[in-house]
Amino acid sequence: MSSEYPTMFSPDSVFVDAVTNIMPEIRSRLKGRLTGLDSDYGLLAQAIFDAGDGDYIEFGSLYGASAVLASLIKNKYNIAGIVMCVDPLDGYYGREQDPVTPDVPVDQATFWHNVDTFDVKDRIRLSMVKSSDFRNIYDNIYSIGFVDGNHWGTAPLKDIRWMQKNVTSHIVVDNYDYCHQDVVNAVYGSVDSIWTLTHVSGLTAILQKDVEFKLRKAFAKKMAEEAV
Ligand SMILES: C[S@@+](CC[C@H](N)C(=O)[O-])C[C@H]1O[C@@H](n2cnc3c(N)ncnc32)[C@H](O)[C@@H]1O
Repeated sequence: MSSEYPTMFSPDSVFVDAVTNIMPEIRSRLKGRLTGLDSDYGLLAQAIFDAGDGDYIEFGSLYGASAVLASLIKNKYNIAGIVMCVDPLDGYYGREQDPVTPDVPVDQATFWHNVDTFDVKDRIRLSMVKSSDFRNIYDNIYSIGFVDGNHWGTAPLKDIRWMQKNVTSHIVVDNYDYCHQDVVNAVYGSVDSIWTLTHVSGLTAILQKDVEFKLRKAFAKKMAEEAV
């Protein structure tokens, strides 16, 4: 699955499918919790679909909600690629327990339990390190990246910068809100002639690569065809 010309981001049928069908299923069966609204996960689902074939990577996986969603979207819409998860899974931001769901450990046992519940093990790879360590070691290419790990200090900008080098289509950033000013600043600091901020709503910001250039190219082609 891939599109000839990507469009500026717009929530479409995959967003609706995710919000009405897939997210209620994840919400009811996932052990632990989800950290965003269904509409935020719906935007991620639409971006995964729009990015097309290729590997997905996320910094910050917690109990696995976004990783399960990414896998289910790839399975349902026949999109090639693995789901790479980067999270130390050693508690919640270094705390022994997640303050919202203290009875559910943030560890690899819970993560894999959820992966098994949704039967998506084939898709998922897990690297139990911080994104800062992962960024220093690995340099693979992904079609889409989801930044949802450390939301403070220089981490969001460094995570997004690494994604800009290693992602070919979409970067979805979570906790784009005014309680997380470092995330907001990092997103603004990442917009350039290659990366366009194509969507902001809820807790989500989306950056797309080369979209203006490709839209201009598509427009020029259409004009040329009509002129004949
Ligand atoms: C907001 S949660 C992720 C939620 C997940 N994406 C979901 O949809 O359920 C953030 C996670 O990032 C982890 N984390 C914290 N610092 C990190 C870092 N530097 N690199 C990767 N993950 C990190 C936290 O421990 C936590 O599990």
